[in-house]
Amino acid sequence: MKFIVCSSKAEAIRRGVELVVGEIGRNPELVLGLATGGTMIRFYSELVSFSWEKKISFSKVRTFNLDEYVGLSFRNKESFRYFMEKNFFDKVDLKKENIVFLNGEAKNLDGECERFEKSVKNVGGINLQILGIGKNGHIGFNEPGSSIKSKTRVVDLSLETRKANAKFFGGKFEKVPREALTMGVSTILGAEKIVLFAFGKEKADAVRDAVEDKIGCEVPASLLQRHKNVIFILDKGAASELKKLRNT
Ligand code: PGA
Repeated sequence: MKFIVCSSKAEAIRRGVELVVGEIGRNPELVLGLATGGTMIRFYSELVSFSWEKKISFSKVRTFNLDEYVGLSFRNKESFRYFMEKNFFDKVDLKKENIVFLNGEAKNLDGECERFEKSVKNVGGINLQILGIGKNGHIGFNEPGSSIKSKTRVVDLSLETRKANAKFFGGKFEKVPREALTMGVSTILGAEKIVLFAFGKEKADAVRDAVEDKIGCEVPASLLQRHKNVIFILDKGAASELKKLRNT
């Protein structure tokens, strides 16, 4: 695992954006795995700025989003699809047909997950996967207990996750769906390269557990230790519990 620890969130985001821009520069047909959540908002706005300044084109990039709530569609302002449209898809030259998203309103949710897995396979896998991390160590919506072998599937959301995401539902956790579709841990680990962003002290314990704990499904992000090309991009707060870095 590699670490980029920055003095501010703004700097961390800049480093992440430079990394993505570099990857697309080398491979304009990059297959990019994307994440949502508060952590990602500025990341997307910076990517959009790069695109507007014509420093980057997404015209051949293909994207796969990590997750979606069951029962919500792009018409729901709380859906991840809506989040992506508003913060990124509508603002860059990405082609609609190159966007692969889990449909939380699909009649056959298991079939929808299979379709997603097949789409990942059909493009030859994800080149670069962007991740956030939950305070409980989840990646995507792979909650504690998720197997390293898990594929894209329907999952129950933990109370902790529903409470954390209440910020997108008018502060009311009761409104956060109880189920979601998520890319599996094994699907995520299948990516060639993974970049995980975490900002603020509230993520420091989760980052420490992911990096310094033993590998286990109780902290799904710790399963990333099994991957050979993972970069954590952190601000000082998120890195503050890392012994390894404190001693260097
Ligand atoms: P957040 O979510 O960016 O809103 O903290 C991250 C996550 O749950 O993966």
